Amino acid sequence: EKGGYDYFMLKEIAEQPKAVADTLLGRIDGSGRLTLDEVRIPDAVLRAADKVVIIACGTAFHAGLIAKYAIEHWTRIPCEVELASEFRYRDPILGQKTLVIAISQSGETMDTLMALRHAREQGAKVLAVCNTNGSTIPRESDAVLYTHAGPEVAVASTKAFLTQLVACYLLALYLGQVRGTKWGDEIHAVVRELARIGDEVERVLETMEPVRALARSLAHKDTVLFLGRHVGYPVALEGALKLKELAYMHAEGFAAGELKHGPIALIEEDLPVVVVVPSPKGRSVLHDKIVSNIQEIRARGARTIVIAEEGDEAVVPYADHLIRIPATPTLLQPLVSTVPLQVFACELATARGNEVDQPRNLAKSVTVE
Ligand code: M6R
Repeated sequence: EKGGYDYFMLKEIAEQPKAVADTLLGRIDGSGRLTLDEVRIPDAVLRAADKVVIIACGTAFHAGLIAKYAIEHWTRIPCEVELASEFRYRDPILGQKTLVIAISQSGETMDTLMALRHAREQGAKVLAVCNTNGSTIPRESDAVLYTHAGPEVAVASTKAFLTQLVACYLLALYLGQVRGTKWGDEIHAVVRELARIGDEVERVLETMEPVRALARSLAHKDTVLFLGRHVGYPVALEGALKLKELAYMHAEGFAAGELKHGPIALIEEDLPVVVVVPSPKGRSVLHDKIVSNIQEIRARGARTIVIAEEGDEAVVPYADHLIRIPATPTLLQPLVSTVPLQVFACELATARGNEVDQPRNLAKSVTVE
């Protein structure tokens, strides 16, 4: 049942190219238009929406944080992302023009369910992004966009995360299409790129041996830090979450721009710091800033583990370990940059003798609040 892999997690990591392709299947027509027939919320309601609120927990929350960048950029609708467990307790401002997106792999997470019930009570429309057919969250939502990752057994979410991202990108593009935003050309380019992204994920998977070796060499460490900017920031959070739950190590993700506001005090000799580097093209300001961050932490003794696009030579002098990912449009980078972090956490867990598929104290679906 594990298809020759030692753990479900390894199998599910390997299934990601297919999971991503399956989630795109039938949703983009020959002319590059999105056909999301399942989104049974009338176009008029989508056009009138004046705010998007994303609610989710854990890894699904990280997918939501990334979705915010895509939704705001492509649709110009303000988007908030909130931990489902915090949402209803702060008396959030919701109304008929609020579109709530509830992201959940299992469709049974109680925190997310309670948040979506609260949103509907306040008159908001709720759209679920979910991987489990017929589960409670889609049943209680106004509409659902299913991710087609197939069953995810390992407690640590991997392929569900990548497909949540794909579903959110599709949704953002669809909102842009329905509302006729000004990003038409960019949207077409992204759609074309999405169609090839499964192959890019496959390419990343083929180059993971050095990442595994690196993970094994760090098995005795207590702490690993993760830095990112823009969509790389939620990726850093996700890398840290994976390490906590699988390797039981202290791991934290930071926005690289925050370093100087506190976290840089943590840097000491030989501390492993993973840095997710944004694309050098287009957003070169961000890229330059993160290269300076890498220099700064390295000057203070950090062991820099740099995830950067192929062809990005600026990082080479400052990377103790360099992990290459294919170049993608800026907003899509998490689809490839997350993969090495999953492999890294899985290998570290194995090296530390931990139970990979069933980490201590955790359950696959959290059905209590
Ligand atoms: O089933 P859900 O997507 O609603 O689950 C949300 C979180 O419990 C889940 O993502 C959790 O954080 C994972 N174990 C992370 O790997």
